[in-house]
Amino acid sequence: MNMDELKRQAAARAIEQVDNGMRLGLGTGSTAKHFVELLGERVRAGLDVVGVPTSEVTRADALRCGIRLTTLDDIDRLDLVVDGADEIDPTLNAIKGGGGALLREKIVAAASDRMIVIADDSKWVATLGRFPLPVEVIPFGLAATQRAMARAFAEGGVSGQMVVRKAKDGHVFVTDGGHWIVDAHLERITDAPRLAGLLNAIPGVVEHGLFIGLASTVILAGSQGIRVVERGNTAILGETE
Ligand code: 5RP
Repeated sequence: MNMDELKRQAAARAIEQVDNGMRLGLGTGSTAKHFVELLGERVRAGLDVVGVPTSEVTRADALRCGIRLTTLDDIDRLDLVVDGADEIDPTLNAIKGGGGALLREKIVAAASDRMIVIADDSKWVATLGRFPLPVEVIPFGLAATQRAMARAFAEGGVSGQMVVRKAKDGHVFVTDGGHWIVDAHLERITDAPRLAGLLNAIPGVVEHGLFIGLASTVILAGSQGIRVVERGNTAILGETE
C-alpha cells in the first residue's frame, strides 16, 4: 500500500469521530486534505457541520467539497480539529509546519476541545527533531531573531543550521500571515516543552512548530493496520486490519 493510501485510511478513521452539528477545525497538508475530501462526501450525504480552515489552501479545498465554513470570530470554540503532522512522539507532542500553516494550525488547535492527528506511521518517532523545526518569523530584523534563536537553542540543549524556507519558484516562502519560515535542523530535541517556551519568548518569532500538549489522539496508518494512541496512554488502544 502506498503512502497516500495510508494517509487516506488514517483520515477515514478520523471521520468516524465526526458527529452531526460539530464545529470542526480543518487541518492543512496532504493527509488533512484526505480528511476534507471524505468530510465533503459526508456533507453531501446530509451531515451538518461547520469548519474553520487552517490555511487558504484548505479553505479552497473545503469550499470545493461543499463544506460550510466559519471563523473563530463568529464562534468561540471548536469541538474537534483533525490535522496532520511531520513528527509525533510517544507523549503526543508533535512537529508541524512542513506545509507552512503552523500559525493558523496552532490557533485552531488551541481553540479546539480535541485534536486528532492523522498520519502514516513513518511520522511516529521516539524523539522529535529529525524533521527540521519550522519557526515562523517576522522578516524585519531577521538576523537579530536568528541570533536570539541560536541562544535559545543553546539554552535548550540543541544546535543546528537555520535555513530560510524557499518556495518552489526559488523566492522566499511567505506564509498566509505574510511571515517567513526558518527551518531549524536540530536532529534531536530532548526537551521539546522547554525549547517551545524559549522560542515563545523571542520577539521576532511569531510561532513555532512544536505542538506541546495539544494532540489528544493520534491515528497512525501503517502496513500492519491502524493504531489509535490516546494522550496519557502510550499503549496501543485500537488495532485493526
Ligand atoms: C502543515 C502541516 C502538515 O500537517 C504537516 O506538514 C504534514 O503534512 P502531510 O500530511 O502532507 O505529510 O503541519 O503546516
